[in-house]
Amino acid sequence: MDFYEIIRTRRSVRAFKKDSIPEEVLNRVLEAVRVAPSGSNRQPWKFILVKDRTLKQKMVPVCNNQKFMDEAPLIIVACGKKLPINRGGYMGEMSILLDVATAFTQLILAARAEGLGTCWIGAFNNDELKKLLEVPDGYEVVAATPLGYPSDPSVFAGPKSRKTMNEIVSVNKF
Ligand SMILES: Cc1cc2nc3c(=O)[nH]c(=O)nc-3n(C[C@H](O)[C@H](O)[C@H](O)COP(=O)(O)O)c2cc1C
Repeated sequence: MDFYEIIRTRRSVRAFKKDSIPEEVLNRVLEAVRVAPSGSNRQPWKFILVKDRTLKQKMVPVCNNQKFMDEAPLIIVACGKKLPINRGGYMGEMSILLDVATAFTQLILAARAEGLGTCWIGAFNNDELKKLLEVPDGYEVVAATPLGYPSDPSVFAGPKSRKTMNEIVSVNKF
């Protein structure tokens, strides 16, 4: 699939088939994550593959009761390692959000290239999710996504509501 078509047809998917993901497909998606860029190449991340059914079910109430999450064969949880230094940017230890979000974006686009659906989950209780998944101190959960084949593959052809180019781009000054 053409790169721009992947971007254009990616959608948040909120209904999944139970079908499992072939290992080679999952490995390609994870490889897209592994090679992602990060500040000073620190790769301050860990991606938890939640496969266990009971654990997936327990994640739902911790993630704002988003019930579609545990329909998918897998939930991927992206954690960022808080860095003790400010890398010269204004964000300080918050910069893990940028690093992890960059890798996560590669994940959701690679998933689309494989015909898999994702839905970026940002609504969750960080403390409770950390406890459930035994995320150690020094790490925060940044994002999660169910990963699986969409119940209805036509979801990728659905409408995309976005601001116009003029609203989001300016030249020289804001
Ligand atoms: C940081 C972030 C957090 C999000 N959190 C949620 C979420 O908790 N639940 C959900 O259903 N969608 C969530 N989304 C998906 C957005 O609602 C979705 O990307 C947006 O409506 C555009 O639709 P599209 O992804 O289909 O293009 C999140 C997206 C981002 C980037």
